[in-house]
Amino acid sequence: MRSGTATAALALAAAGLFGVAVPSTAQARAGEPAVAARAAGLPVAARAAALPYLDPSLPVATRVTDLLGRMSLDDKVGQMTQSERGTTSAADITAYRVGSVLSGGGSAPTPNTPAGWADLYDGYQRGALATPLQIPILYGIDAVHGNNNVLGSTIFPHNIGLGATRDPALVEKIGRATAEEVTGAGPDWTFAPCLCVARNDRWGRTYESFGEKPEIATAMTTIVDGLQGSRLDGPASVLATAKHFIGDGGTTGGTDQGDTQISEAELRAVHLPPFAAAVRRGVGSVMISYSSFDGVKLHGNKYLITDLLKGELGFTGFVVSDWAAIDQLDGRSGFTQAEVVAGVNAGLDMIMVPTDWKTFVGYLKAAVQSGQIPLSRIDDANRRILTKKFELGLFERPYADRSYASTVGSAAHRALARQAVRESQVLLKNAGGILPLAKTGGKIFVAGKSADDIGNQSGGWTLSWQGASGNTVPGTSILAGIRAAAGSGTTVTYQRDGSGIDSSYRAAIAVVGETPYAEGQGDRTGSMSLDATDLATLSRLRSAGVPVIVVLVSGRPLDVAAEIGNWTALLAAWLPGSEGAGVADVLFGDYAPTGKLPVTWMQSVSQQPINDGDGKTPLFAYGFGLTYAPTQPDPTPTPTPTPTPTDSAPAGACRVRYTTNDWSSGFTGTVALTNTGSTTLAPWTLTWTFAGGQTVTQAWSARVVQSGAAVTATGEAWSASLAPGATVSFGFNGSLSGANPRPAAFSLNGATCTVE
Ligand code: GLC
Repeated sequence: MRSGTATAALALAAAGLFGVAVPSTAQARAGEPAVAARAAGLPVAARAAALPYLDPSLPVATRVTDLLGRMSLDDKVGQMTQSERGTTSAADITAYRVGSVLSGGGSAPTPNTPAGWADLYDGYQRGALATPLQIPILYGIDAVHGNNNVLGSTIFPHNIGLGATRDPALVEKIGRATAEEVTGAGPDWTFAPCLCVARNDRWGRTYESFGEKPEIATAMTTIVDGLQGSRLDGPASVLATAKHFIGDGGTTGGTDQGDTQISEAELRAVHLPPFAAAVRRGVGSVMISYSSFDGVKLHGNKYLITDLLKGELGFTGFVVSDWAAIDQLDGRSGFTQAEVVAGVNAGLDMIMVPTDWKTFVGYLKAAVQSGQIPLSRIDDANRRILTKKFELGLFERPYADRSYASTVGSAAHRALARQAVRESQVLLKNAGGILPLAKTGGKIFVAGKSADDIGNQSGGWTLSWQGASGNTVPGTSILAGIRAAAGSGTTVTYQRDGSGIDSSYRAAIAVVGETPYAEGQGDRTGSMSLDATDLATLSRLRSAGVPVIVVLVSGRPLDVAAEIGNWTALLAAWLPGSEGAGVADVLFGDYAPTGKLPVTWMQSVSQQPINDGDGKTPLFAYGFGLTYAPTQPDPTPTPTPTPTPTDSAPAGACRVRYTTNDWSSGFTGTVALTNTGSTTLAPWTLTWTFAGGQTVTQAWSARVVQSGAAVTATGEAWSASLAPGATVSFGFNGSLSGANPRPAAFSLNGATCTVE
């Protein structure tokens, strides 16, 4: 929602108090202010007030049609143009009728404060309202983990950590908080969420993905509701963007902007569901991917943009290109009129042209005048864009709503971010139950390049495009969180490289991992191991002979199999953002870890890509995550739901692959369950009986409870139903006192399964 200083003038004029002569349709259609109004020196706004498109009581479609009928080709071309703030003045907006401006990563005004941003935004709006038809601009930014361009904003965990939470309701709240902080700084549009499904951890944008399977990103589209609110013109609602359509996470080798060389069936099964979910939630815009699908650049792919996204999915918002992406269509630098034609005719509605946008305006206009782009395509693009501008309420309230400035970096938002950090932590190893650490007594040594580095813990897209190490944004480092959590009776020593440690410490915490990166600069084509600095620190700590707890700050799984044997515990912290205290909450037991791996964790970089169900044996499976819960299974098991007739699978309508990894006192069980029947089972319940006294202690990717020797597994909220042909994988740890005989039989909703 915007503020409404323009409204008063319009209301007065609408009351006819100025006696303004409503311009003839021809004059209005030409987009030029009525001479009478201008001659009378009246503000142009007074002239426009009498026009239907400015009447908020009319249906949006009516207003769009009226406005479209008054627009010149210059107006229409301008609406399809998005320029960057660094190359655009408010006067440019007026002269070229530019419809949108963006800030690229880190492109901020001075001062970089909410007020500085709101002044920037309002300046462009004044430029827009000085055009004949007074069409407000849309201002787009990458608020991808909070309003991360604005200094002082709450920085939330990046998406890979949010995927580990498996908490769609939490993610919706994060969307709401982000929308408030964006609104308080002025802009009305964020290029988020990224709904990419990262299939190769080498990809530099893996951390922007919610996980390797579409079900997580699909579930997390709740963030669209948080960002857009129940109404786009509601308080603090901002336009969301589902990006990058489609398949950016599935390129060969995980190459950013590479080629997704898979079948259309796989593209639809793996990469499409999150976009379909976002469209169902009414996402206002979709950004196209730089990548190619089977050799065809997405930005020129009419079948995927127009036929699939707009046709089959019924997307009625507008499609925006990525940063200078049309330049890539012919494989040469810069863009040509031919590339403009190809992109717009493929279905691009708004073109992000950061620098040479004046050339773009000329090419687009010429392409329409020459018939290379039909006017119907231009009108469709304008209709889509204008519809969102009307729905956002921009015509009534075009200016920044500064009442939300106080939410920027607020205590409430930081508390929410801290909860998200807690829920995103995934405990991968906890030998001897070293975690949670006691808060009081003795000495704790903290080391590692990311222990006291809020820039590292925030990652890319933080204050700058690539992010940066150092004390970059206000917040709490992981070290500060540890110091605050440890009681006064505990000595916490910090030494970045681990020097000075000795055996007098009861534990060492090493916070290591990756330094910030974004996009292709984060692609890792070679090793995915820890760097030499981290390995040297860990070696020093190990030499003291104290338990070493590793906290991994990274945007993806790293190749740690060779080192993990020397670690007592391993906590995947991902990129937690500004509230590092959430990590300490888990380390000291104020929050028992609940995070589950959103990506499969490789045993070796040679396994990449490695994903659930591909037959490769990981170090840690998709969905794995330990906790501190009592080791005894829930004494009051969840009653097995009585399958209704529609739920019962006919005999043999299921197949189970059951594997175990045993050690002296325990074992890990992994189950792959396939519905070979013809009906969707919702809910599904798999039962079996242990014959050797095995006892389930922890489970992941399913709810597993045991009563005596009988074991029951049911789906998580995000995997509650099992469609025909679908396979769900889940696992559990168990204790045993002797042999580990396989269960004799498995039943799915009452039907006996075949066992591989
Ligand atoms: C970048 C990214 C995209 C972002 C856009 C604007 O290159 O691919 O995710 O929204 O440019 O910053």
